Amino acid sequence: MGGLVADESRARGHEPVLLARSTGVDLTTGAGLDHALNGADAVIDVANVNTLNADASTAFFGKATRTLLAGEQRAGVARHVALSILGVDLAPFDYYAGKRAQEVAIEAGSVPWTILRAAQFHEFAQQIYATAKAGPLHLAPKMRTQPIAGREVAARLVDLAESPARGGYVELAGPREESLVDMVRRWAHSRGHRGWIPAVALPGALGKAQRDGTLLPRDGAELGSETFTAWLERTHN
Ligand SMILES: NC(=O)c1ccc[n+]([C@@H]2O[C@H](COP(=O)([O-])OP(=O)(O)OC[C@H]3O[C@@H](n4cnc5c(N)ncnc54)[C@H](OP(=O)(O)O)[C@@H]3O)[C@@H](O)[C@H]2O)c1
Repeated sequence: MGGLVADESRARGHEPVLLARSTGVDLTTGAGLDHALNGADAVIDVANVNTLNADASTAFFGKATRTLLAGEQRAGVARHVALSILGVDLAPFDYYAGKRAQEVAIEAGSVPWTILRAAQFHEFAQQIYATAKAGPLHLAPKMRTQPIAGREVAARLVDLAESPARGGYVELAGPREESLVDMVRRWAHSRGHRGWIPAVALPGALGKAQRDGTLLPRDGAELGSETFTAWLERTHN
C-alpha cells in the first residue's frame, strides 16, 4: 500500500517522503523520524506488522502510532490519515486488536485526523496464498468480504490527506461481495497453480467474525468500482 500511495501522490504533483525502516525511519523507536517529517503537510500511515497475535499487534500499532503522532506534533504536521480495516471496532481480536488500538491512539492524540477503514484489498488473495500454508499445502480461509483494488484505496487516502481532517471515519469497500476462498483459488489458478486448495475455518472470535458477515461494509460505506474479476484480468501478466 505504501508504494501505491507514493505513486498516487507523485501523480498528483506531491513530493512524498517514505517512512520505513528500509529508508532509515523506525516508527517503534523514532529513529530518523524528525528529519523525515521536516516540512511535511500531512502523514498517511500505512505501516504494518506481520502477526496474528493480539499482544504483538497491539504493542506494534500502539507504540508506532504514538511515536509517529508525537513526531508530527513536533513538526507541525496538519493532518494525520491512517488506514484501518472495516469491522475492527466490532471484532477487536487477534491482529485486529492492534488496529483498534491504533484507532484509539489516534482519537486520543492531538493531531487532526481522518481514519479510512477499508475492506480487504483484491491483493489480499495473493497475500493469503503466500502466507496461509500447512507444509506444502496452500489454505483458503472462509471469509465474507467485499474487497477493493489497492489503487482505489490509495487514491482515497491521498484525497483525504489533501482535505481538511474530519476527526472521524470513512468506510470504503469494493463493488460486490466475494468469498475469500474463491478469491484465493482464482488468484492461484490465474498464476498456474493446479493443486487442491482446501477451505479452512479459522478458529476463535475473529474467525467467526470473518465468516458471519461482521466485516462487511455497513450502510453509508463508500464503494469502489473495480471488481475482483476485473482486477484479476488487469493484473494478470
Ligand atoms: N491487506 C489488506 O487487505 C488490508 C485491508 C485494509 C487495511 N489494511 C492495512 O493496510 C496497511 C498496510 O498493509 P500492507 O499490506 O501494505 O503492509 P505491508 O506490505 O506489510 O507493508 C508494511 C510497511 O510498513 C513498514 N514498516 C513496518 N515496520 C515498520 C517500522 N517499525 N517503522 C517504519 N516502517 C515500518 C514496512 O517497511 P520496512 O519493512 O522497510 O520497515 C512496509 O513498508 C496495514 O495497516 C493494514 O492493516 C490492509
